Amino acid sequence: MDKIQSLTGMLDQYDDGDMSNTSSKLFEVEKIIKNIFLNYKFQEIRTPVLEDANLFIRSVGNSSDIVNKEIYSFNDRNDKTIAMRPEGTASVIRSVIEKKLDQTTHKLWYLGPMWRYERPQKGRYRQFNQAGIEILGIPEGLPEYEMISVVCSLIEEFKLKNCSIKINHLGARENKESFCKALVDFLEPFKKDLDKKDLDRLKKNPLRVLDSKNAETQIILQKAPSIKDFIDQSSIDLLESIKNEFSELCRIEIDHNLVRGLDYYSGFVFEATSSELGAQDSFLGGGRYDQLSSQLGGKDMPAIGMAIGLERMANIAKIDHVNGKLVTFVIAASNLEPKAYKIAHHLRSINREITLDISLSEGSLKSKMRKANKNNSDYVIIIGEEELNNRTAVIKPLKDELGEQQTVSIEGLYSFYESL
Ligand code: HAM
Repeated sequence: MDKIQSLTGMLDQYDDGDMSNTSSKLFEVEKIIKNIFLNYKFQEIRTPVLEDANLFIRSVGNSSDIVNKEIYSFNDRNDKTIAMRPEGTASVIRSVIEKKLDQTTHKLWYLGPMWRYERPQKGRYRQFNQAGIEILGIPEGLPEYEMISVVCSLIEEFKLKNCSIKINHLGARENKESFCKALVDFLEPFKKDLDKKDLDRLKKNPLRVLDSKNAETQIILQKAPSIKDFIDQSSIDLLESIKNEFSELCRIEIDHNLVRGLDYYSGFVFEATSSELGAQDSFLGGGRYDQLSSQLGGKDMPAIGMAIGLERMANIAKIDHVNGKLVTFVIAASNLEPKAYKIAHHLRSINREITLDISLSEGSLKSKMRKANKNNSDYVIIIGEEELNNRTAVIKPLKDELGEQQTVSIEGLYSFYESL
């Protein structure tokens, strides 16, 4: 019988509590990012992972790589073409329009798996996780600063080194279109020098030629028209101002070649990259997409957002240890479990902030203590026969700064635990 294995480019993620393991870090990264979003008063939205495939064709764009060749889709029993979402923004806007919420302002966040049929490599998967935010209903101005502030908070919180935020402005839709036309006119005489991939981009999505990894194309592009000659002074001023305000916190570069791969963008766009990631170096990206709502049949609704690639973030995030206290409860005689378990149950209910790990496996006190040390526990609570008969417990701190071992009454244990 053929062995059944996971699909190419789709990872299993395990949490073994070890923060040097990227997979364990992913779960911690999710929690920290969620806290940052809540700290900025974003509200959660959860949309289905399956959508009408037309949603992505009309938003992300027919000419984008994502829709062109990466979409996971199938026909359902009614012969409707369904897509596994390749990103979250289109679904959020679809949902807001459907609920008739497209006349008010919103700050929304989401987190979940996305699917793109890409050629898998380090940092590029066919199923990956994104956490994203979208600010809806507010035109260009303050939301741009809020976005970059969130990016700087992420960089600070995860102690990211060797990273930079690239920002650009694509102008209004007409500016983007005139620039696109000028770029095509410029590249026309060089067609014979472009590789197949760049020729394809030139035909379907000319701005993406600017992202070319081909060194010869990049030489040709040195003399190409620049978006900065097609946008207003106010757009350039916005870039300068954002750079000035945040440069003390994070490295920010104005990069007029940054175009982003999804069609719905116009105006301010950004991406954060880390040189620690290798070829797939962008760990988040976003921008303004003021036309998307009306394009999908909703009201005119200015909008801006971004998404973080969680696997890439977990790869570079520095998380020394998991926040919050950990206590290990050791029952030191096998016939005592039911009674001691009740004490542990009560402890958990009086302080839900503390993680209480009860040692469930058989084994000597010594081996249980070793495990508690390895888990980085702050305290061990030990109850043996003598303690249970006397209604006492031993509290043993495992870190020097936490003081001396003590024996306390069960009531004393409850108050100690409550005050942790
Ligand atoms: P995106 O740039 O396509 O933007 O994706 C955002 C991030 O998702 C990337 O920077 C990267 O870290 C991660 N990512 C993308 N593809 C993969 C992959 N195959 N494997 C692993 N990670 C990946 C968007 O998705 C937009 N919806 C962002 C946005 C929100 N714009 C406005 N609002």
